[in-house]
Amino acid sequence: MNDRLKTIVDLKKYPIHNLNSPVIKNLITKCKEELEEQSCSTIPDFILPESLKIMNSELENQLDEVYMSKESINAYLYAKDDTSLPKDHPKRKFMNRYNGYLNSDCFSKNSEMKFLYETEELLKFVSACLGVSPIYRWADPLACHAYNVMKTDGILPWHFDSCEFTLSLMIQKPERGGVFEYCPNIREPGNENFDEVKKVLNGDRTRVRQLKLEPGDLQIFKGRFTMHRVTKVEGKKSRYMCIPAYVLDPYRVNTPEHSKAIYGKVLPIHLERNQARSDGLTD
Ligand SMILES: [Fe+2]
Repeated sequence: MNDRLKTIVDLKKYPIHNLNSPVIKNLITKCKEELEEQSCSTIPDFILPESLKIMNSELENQLDEVYMSKESINAYLYAKDDTSLPKDHPKRKFMNRYNGYLNSDCFSKNSEMKFLYETEELLKFVSACLGVSPIYRWADPLACHAYNVMKTDGILPWHFDSCEFTLSLMIQKPERGGVFEYCPNIREPGNENFDEVKKVLNGDRTRVRQLKLEPGDLQIFKGRFTMHRVTKVEGKKSRYMCIPAYVLDPYRVNTPEHSKAIYGKVLPIHLERNQARSDGLTD
């Protein structure tokens, strides 16, 4: 193990470098149950306070490089309307979005977050919590471990992620709002479940859950199958998160449309690897 990990993760509480330790075995069992039932599990105070400060300042030092976008999108992250579908189809519901990312290719070589994402210890721990192996770090050079910035009035409407598994690390909380809401396992490979998705988009709260995240907490989340959103950020303080992601397919990256709309640019890799998804779900 690289000693730097000790300065980032609270290894005394969570010895993720030793998956056979009883404390980690118990934690894995708990996370696995929560992920199966609720598609989401939270580990409190995972990141040490000093490391959190470093992450906060590495983002704040590069705020001018954050790509902010305001385009309305549907739950499948598309901005373009498909008029061949019925008017009330969930793909035709467009919602306000105001959100920004510090793309992963902007991170310094020595970045705290980049280092953590690239450790085998974190990858193996997350894989064990999910009960899925192998999982891979996302090959998308812009999106794989981006910092997410939501300023005053920032909002992220209902959507599905294009990667299977996302970690959310809360770096800074806003004064009010910016609450994460989710609908566990509302779709699965081969089944879009449009009727249920439509209900939620129309305001039905039956399936909706809220998650309370504090700075330093780590959330593991199945974002491709669980529709989720972040409510409007209120007050002057921005909401900062880091959202490193893991995938089942080491080859795949975002579609060129998503990359342009969300991360502000398209790289050659997005064009080369633009192909239909093997799970049959819409990106
Ligand atoms: Fe998401």
